[in-house]
Amino acid sequence: MSDIRLEGVTRRYGTFAAADQVDLSVTQGEFVTILGPSGSGKTTLLSLIAGLNRPTSGRIFIGGRDVTNATAQERNIGLVFQSYALFPHMTVLQNVLFPLGVRRIGGAEADRLARDALKLVRLDGLENRRPSQLSGGQQQRVALARAVVFKPDILLLDEPLGALDRKLREELQVELKQLQRTLGVTTLLVTHDQEEALSLSDRIMVLDKGRTQQVAAPTEAYLKPANRFVAEFLGIANFVSLPDGRQGVVRPERVRLSAGEQGKSARVVEAIYLGQMVRYHLALDGNQTVVAAVPFLGTAHAPGERVSVSWESADVWPVT
Ligand SMILES: Nc1ncnc2c1ncn2[C@@H]1O[C@H](COP(=O)(O)OP(=O)(O)OP(=O)(O)O)[C@@H](O)[C@H]1O
Ligand SMILES: [Mg+2]
Repeated sequence: MSDIRLEGVTRRYGTFAAADQVDLSVTQGEFVTILGPSGSGKTTLLSLIAGLNRPTSGRIFIGGRDVTNATAQERNIGLVFQSYALFPHMTVLQNVLFPLGVRRIGGAEADRLARDALKLVRLDGLENRRPSQLSGGQQQRVALARAVVFKPDILLLDEPLGALDRKLREELQVELKQLQRTLGVTTLLVTHDQEEALSLSDRIMVLDKGRTQQVAAPTEAYLKPANRFVAEFLGIANFVSLPDGRQGVVRPERVRLSAGEQGKSARVVEAIYLGQMVRYHLALDGNQTVVAAVPFLGTAHAPGERVSVSWESADVWPVT
């Protein structure tokens, strides 16, 4: 098991920087998620750490060792990508045995490790199936077993659940978290799903245009975004003016509605039921709109109704 450290990691293609001066420290056993829009450099960063790609400048350390120029094989990394990339002609067991063979582990030892890994992802009993005889979720579990069977120092996951439907994805998120905890393996996950990032990770790293925007615990990034980009990327952001002229962001859950006069007067534009919550789009006097999310307790305000809107100044986070 190891920690990961990136120092000024840059990857250029011509004059374009897919990764631009990225610094990151992931402590041993930590689960960090890289979050960012399409093209922000997430896969580039993972492939640089995995040794499938080389930085133009900067250094990469794994377990304190400078691996900037080490081959992928020398790095002992477990990898899972969105496309399952299982060997179609091999059985489940053969797929999981494969990385052991590469590392010259064979015989009873390999068999035991492979069966343990399959048990860990709850696939024991399916050893002799071929990938085409498995569901998408089962295939992704095989990919996970194959990534952890050789006890990698670190685990790199690039949109591993991206191809699965929502319900299955949520199930596998829980399993992935449990697997990671059981193994205690340092993990970097790439996703563009904010909920996945917020729910799974010890910390998240938000990327935009190859540059780090913020590295923080999920709640901190959500409630104290480093800038406007992070505020807007992580959920719904209400921007409000602060007394000193700066802009601040307040999250919908922090906006209060009441029938009285104690806040700003607003008109309900839309009320959207989300099961446990109702999301209101509100028009304040002066044309500003605010989104509020309040628990649904049996009744809701209807569009056109007038309400009073308020928030605590402590719930407004200044952004630039
Ligand atoms: N080999 C390459 N040559 C030129 N440009 C590249 C190359 N690989 C990646 N890029 C560019 O680098 C940028 C980052 O790509 P990357 O694949 O890291 O994005 P991503 O964040 O993983 O996006 P997605 O969410 O769509 O997977 C993109 O603009 C991409 O076009
Ligand atoms: Mg990608």
